[in-house]
Amino acid sequence: MTKSEIAELKNANNGELGKYLNPANDTKTLFFTLDKLGRLPESFDGKYFVPLCKHPAEKIRLLAVKNLGKLCDEAYLTHLENISISDESTMVRREAISSIGRMRNKNAIPVLINSLNDSDPKIVLQAIRGLLVFNDNHQVIAELKKLINHPNEVIRNVIEKEYFDNSKSTYLENHCKSPDHLKNVAVNGDVLKVLKVVQDESIHLTFTSPPYYNARDYSIYQSYNEYLEFLRDVFKEVHRITKEGRFFILNTSPIIIPRVSRQHSSKRYPIPFDIHPFLIEMGWEFIDDIVWVKPEFSAKDRNSSFRQHRKPLAYKPTAITEYLMVYRKKTHKLIDWNIRQYDYKTVQESKVLGEIDKTNTWNIDPTFDKTHTAVFPLELCLRVLKYYSFKNDLVFDPFGGSGTFGKAAQSLDRFFFTTEISEKYFQRIIENIGQNVLFNSEFPNKYYSLHEFKKIIETIK
Ligand SMILES: C[S@@+](CC[C@H](N)C(=O)[O-])C[C@H]1O[C@@H](n2cnc3c(N)ncnc32)[C@H](O)[C@@H]1O
Repeated sequence: MTKSEIAELKNANNGELGKYLNPANDTKTLFFTLDKLGRLPESFDGKYFVPLCKHPAEKIRLLAVKNLGKLCDEAYLTHLENISISDESTMVRREAISSIGRMRNKNAIPVLINSLNDSDPKIVLQAIRGLLVFNDNHQVIAELKKLINHPNEVIRNVIEKEYFDNSKSTYLENHCKSPDHLKNVAVNGDVLKVLKVVQDESIHLTFTSPPYYNARDYSIYQSYNEYLEFLRDVFKEVHRITKEGRFFILNTSPIIIPRVSRQHSSKRYPIPFDIHPFLIEMGWEFIDDIVWVKPEFSAKDRNSSFRQHRKPLAYKPTAITEYLMVYRKKTHKLIDWNIRQYDYKTVQESKVLGEIDKTNTWNIDPTFDKTHTAVFPLELCLRVLKYYSFKNDLVFDPFGGSGTFGKAAQSLDRFFFTTEISEKYFQRIIENIGQNVLFNSEFPNKYYSLHEFKKIIETIK
């Protein structure tokens, strides 16, 4: 039988279809028929589905329940309730709850409320979805509110957004604006000291590559823990100064500290994985992991001796990737809300045109700088800016290095703000970004010492 023949039979509704839905048929015929039924006519007789709800094959029971649900017929409420309680398959039970919810019938309320106690969070979520329709029913609201302490985080989030979030999803005049005194500004100083005088919710995007623990010469920490705690403090501040729902993109990779001698082994530190839990705890929501892939020749060969001896356990792959971990400042508002804060012209002018990166692997050659030992390729910054900011946004790099991100930002009509502790690298930023005259001359580039920057902030107060 073909799909169009099924459509004909279901509309004729003369019992012919019953032959194909007979439980004695083979699973393949039953599956095909149930799967291709599509929308059912209002008068369709659901009796064919009832015996199939007990079929030994889970996929048949699932489709039978789904089709029964399409009828939105209260007559099947008890039948579906029984399935939601007793079927051995969670998928089938969930489908039964979904079907009950779809009835939008107040007699279904007690059944859905009962399901809120189910041990499977997906069933509870399905029941919540069904109950949210009755948003003026006090008993429903009271029962749903109780779930604010549910062990499952997705359930808690839904309930918090529905009943405990007072923020309005309306237009916020200040969302696309940023403080003028931070626009196109680089400060030579410790990021933690600089950020102390930066007000909350000032910036739209942060992209940064922090020091690589003690793997390079410019960073000396007493211990890995001290290093992680330093980053935790910095990213907490970044969170504070980031606007609602905006992004933080962290470029790191596991690093290797070479062995002391042949009697010792080298040590690898999984930096991105160790920082991640801190970020979640402080209120960043994990969004994506993008993998920056470099050509093989650009990385240090780690398997030359393995290629000789070929002995298991001693295998060491050459590391040609770095992570771009994408986080968003946690909010109940959707990304759509962020986009709606911008005027039509800005949205149009910020559109990402042409070829886009379809996957989370970005192939980009590394860049080498005459002064700095670890710089971003300009191309990497341009992509981040295009995907995660709008024109005229204020974007930040706490570990400015040679100023690549600031330079890229200006080339795409975004304002930069950056901090860099080293005097030598700060001079490289000045050399690299220079005196901008092209973009928005109202805010020429400014290079401050920490002292000068603090003075500026004081005069504003
Ligand atoms: C990996 S590099 C960043 C390179 C940069 N992405 C670029 O494209 O040039 C990290 C930088 O952080 C700087 N840094 C380290 N500790 C800092 C601190 N406490 N405050 C500000 N900058 C710091 C280092 O001097 C170094 O230049």
